[in-house]
Amino acid sequence: MKAVNTYSALALVYDMVMDHVDYDGWADYILHLLDEHSPKEDSPDFHILELGCGTGLFTSELLFQTEAKISAADFSENMLEWAKKRLAEDSERVSLYRLDFESGWDQSELSGPIDAILLLYDCINYIQTEEGLARLFRGVKSRMGPDSIFIFDQSTPANSINNAEFFEDEGEQDGIAYTRKSSFDDESRLHTTQFEITTTEGVFQEQHVQRAWTRQEIWAALERSQMPVLVSYDGFSLDEAHDESERIHWVIGNPPRSSAVGDEPDLKT
Ligand SMILES: C[S@@+](CC[C@H](N)C(=O)[O-])C[C@H]1O[C@@H](n2cnc3c(N)ncnc32)[C@H](O)[C@@H]1O
Repeated sequence: MKAVNTYSALALVYDMVMDHVDYDGWADYILHLLDEHSPKEDSPDFHILELGCGTGLFTSELLFQTEAKISAADFSENMLEWAKKRLAEDSERVSLYRLDFESGWDQSELSGPIDAILLLYDCINYIQTEEGLARLFRGVKSRMGPDSIFIFDQSTPANSINNAEFFEDEGEQDGIAYTRKSSFDDESRLHTTQFEITTTEGVFQEQHVQRAWTRQEIWAALERSQMPVLVSYDGFSLDEAHDESERIHWVIGNPPRSSAVGDEPDLKT
């Protein structure tokens, strides 16, 4: 068995692993948030940047459901290869970039301002340090204009604790198989997933470590980075996020819009 980098061998089976995900409904929800919170959402040259785009599953829904110009970025060449194939027909409306959203902004050719920046499906949980969060927010901010908006989601400790029954999974398609096993350490709040991917060329192992940030930690990191929170939603709802939320969608404005800063959440718990 060969240990490989995250999202290298997994790219081969990623779409199979995500088969259960309702990307259509997810895009619908995010576009609703954009409609609610982005003053420029209707303009014909609206530009969306999707960070951590993976194989382009969400990107293709964005292309289908909007007229926007899309930039999509990921640090995994293998994931981007699949995205390139998937999005080939729309190559006039979508551009793909290789970008490490935690530390690669200075080297990126992606310039701003971008109207809406998205970071979805637990991507932020791959960042394990407060410095990493600060670098992400600094990079995002550098590509935002006065009316830009940043929407990201996070998975919380409640998600890891409440959904332990989904920690093991397996699948097989076209001669390629995978197994997935996860564990969650309550103390460090690190969620570790081991993937084993069996192909005709051998068996590959990937370890993914994600940090289950609390709502308060993310709020504090946003505040330190002077990223104004317009609102934070519980799961896929329009209800306010709370301490038991398993997934939170954060909607962030740009500092010049600071009059719209949301109320600070109750940080007692
Ligand atoms: C759970 S997948 C989500 C992919 C896609 N957003 C989706 O919903 O299908 C996480 C993605 O984030 C990417 N990723 C993780 N850390 C990254 C980083 N520091 N910079 C850029 N991409 C990263 C991975 O390569 C992977 O494609």
